[in-house]
Amino acid sequence: MYEFIQDLPKVELHLHIEGSLEPELLFELAKRNQIDLPFESPELLRKAYDFQDLQSFLDIYYQGANALRTDQDFYDLTWAYLQRCKADNVIHTEIFFDPQTHTERGVSFDTVINGIYRAMQDGEREFGITSQIIACFLRHLTEDSAFETFTSINTHKDKIIGVGLDSSERDHPPEKFARVFQHAKQAGFLTVAHAGEEGSAQNIVDAIDMLSVSRVDHGVRCVEDQALVKSLINSQMPLTVCPLSNIKLRVFDEMHQHNIVELLRQGVAVTINSDDPAYFGGYMTDNFVAVSEAHPMTKQELAQFTLNAINASFINETLKANYR
Ligand code: ADE
Ligand code: ZN
Repeated sequence: MYEFIQDLPKVELHLHIEGSLEPELLFELAKRNQIDLPFESPELLRKAYDFQDLQSFLDIYYQGANALRTDQDFYDLTWAYLQRCKADNVIHTEIFFDPQTHTERGVSFDTVINGIYRAMQDGEREFGITSQIIACFLRHLTEDSAFETFTSINTHKDKIIGVGLDSSERDHPPEKFARVFQHAKQAGFLTVAHAGEEGSAQNIVDAIDMLSVSRVDHGVRCVEDQALVKSLINSQMPLTVCPLSNIKLRVFDEMHQHNIVELLRQGVAVTINSDDPAYFGGYMTDNFVAVSEAHPMTKQELAQFTLNAINASFINETLKANYR
């Protein structure tokens, strides 16, 4: 089955580019930018990746992002991720980035987006991997800060297809961002949001109703509301599920308890994604393998994850038909 998974064309819809920063590259960037790190080696840093919950991960993830300073740093980060995509037969990817993580510490929006975008163009030219960018608002920051960030997003409309919402879900419900999302929609951006990862099923309902999302990121806690599960099936609202992330952040204790395959069999439009692969121990193939080892599946079921992802992607209908 490993070979089938490895060869299966894949589409990634939930990947934080800052979460693809491997310890080795982090050390290289820290040296390049003369930043002191509180770890002796990449190996020791990797050993410290032991998380209790989402917040304990986010604290480390934002520290790691501090090593990213220049256009070239963001290029190298994105290029390294695209090389992993090639190795895993990922044919299309939709990449999240967190503008505020960088602008808040004095790195300009333009520096970040230009580095990421340049690597994506090279990825398409050299590997044939198509990609899109989604800019996420940090939900622990204010609505004002999101509006300010949206001004920059809007000046890069040619490169950014949509806006998203990430960071600490607890205490920061979708409602806080309803106005900025409405604004983004009116300006022609598509919308997605993290919901039902650590937060309640109600956050999924609210992301759909208040933020008009085209996809829900994670969404695994939908099972706490059976009426919601029914409506997800009827509407074919996609969920971008991240199996290894959910284990590392203790959303589920073990992979055999994960609900993704049960949701697939019920007809929910679930997809498999890597979230923050440098921190959670695996890219796309690793996520597929981990799920299939814990939940034996047919090849057709495994391929359905890719079909769901193609349908849920933001690529145009002509290209979608090609990929199917
Ligand atoms: N930012 C990066 N990874 C995230 C996750 N899994 N949940 C919320 N915010 C994130
Ligand atoms: Zn995420």
